Amino acid sequence: MTTQDRIAKLRQNRVVALTAYDYPTARILDEAGIDLILVGDSLGMVFAGNPDTTSVTMDQMIYHTTVVRRGVRQALLVSDLPYHSYDSTREAVTNAQRLVNAGAEAVKLEGGLAVIEKVRAVLASGIQVAGHIGMLPQSLHREGSYKKKGKTDQEAAMLLEDARVLEEAGVFAIVLESIVPEVASEITRALNIPTIGIGAGSGCTGEIAVVHDLAGFYPWFKPPFAKPRACFADDLHRAALAYAAAVRAPGETTVP
Ligand code: KIV
Repeated sequence: MTTQDRIAKLRQNRVVALTAYDYPTARILDEAGIDLILVGDSLGMVFAGNPDTTSVTMDQMIYHTTVVRRGVRQALLVSDLPYHSYDSTREAVTNAQRLVNAGAEAVKLEGGLAVIEKVRAVLASGIQVAGHIGMLPQSLHREGSYKKKGKTDQEAAMLLEDARVLEEAGVFAIVLESIVPEVASEITRALNIPTIGIGAGSGCTGEIAVVHDLAGFYPWFKPPFAKPRACFADDLHRAALAYAAAVRAPGETTVP
C-alpha cells in the first residue's frame, strides 16, 4: 500500500489514531490495525517527563520516528514538527523532509491561518501534512494554561476559518484538540477531509489518543478527556514489587 492509499483509506471509515514513540508500542498498535500512528511531540511529556512539549527537538523527533518506523507496516506514520522547527517556511520544508527521511509519511504542525504559508510550502515540496487546531500544546507558554477552545462565537468562527484554509491548502486531515463538541461537529460537517478529535466530543470523523493515556502509563498527568483502558503503571509497579521481594528473599540465590 502506498501513502496515498493509506490516506484514501482514512476517508472510508472512522479514523482510529494513536501515538507511539518506541518500536514495541508501534508494532503492537500496527498489528492491532490502528489506521494512523503519530510520533507526537507529546513524547516530551509522557516519554521524557518534561512539563510540556515545548522543549522537544528535531533530533529527538527524528530518533523516535526512526524507531517507530521499524514497527509500522500498515498504518499511516505521521510525525510532529516540534516547537520552533517551522519558524520560517524554509525551516518547515527542511525539517519536514528530515522527518520523512527518518520514515514519516506525513508531518503534522500546529495552527491554522497563522502557519498557512508553512503548510503550503511543505505541501508544495511534496510532503503530506496533517493540520492541528484548537488547544495547541506548543502555545502553552503564550496561553498560560490548557484551555478548551470554541467557547465564544468569535473563537468558534476563527476555528472554522482555520479549518477551511487548511483544507483549501491541501492537508489530508485535521486534529481538533480540546474543542467544544458542538463546534468540532460543525467544523467536521463543513469539511470534506477527516477531522481527528481529542477532547472534542464524538462528532469528529475519527479519534486520536496519547498511547500512555490509553494504557494508564502516565498516572501523574491525566488530561480530563483521557479514557484509560488498561493500567500499565499499576501492573509495572506490582511486577517491580514482586521482583524486588523475590530478589531480596533470604536464602534465594536465583530469582524465581
Ligand atoms: O503530540 C501529540 O501527541 C499530539 C496529539 C495530542 C494529537 O499532537
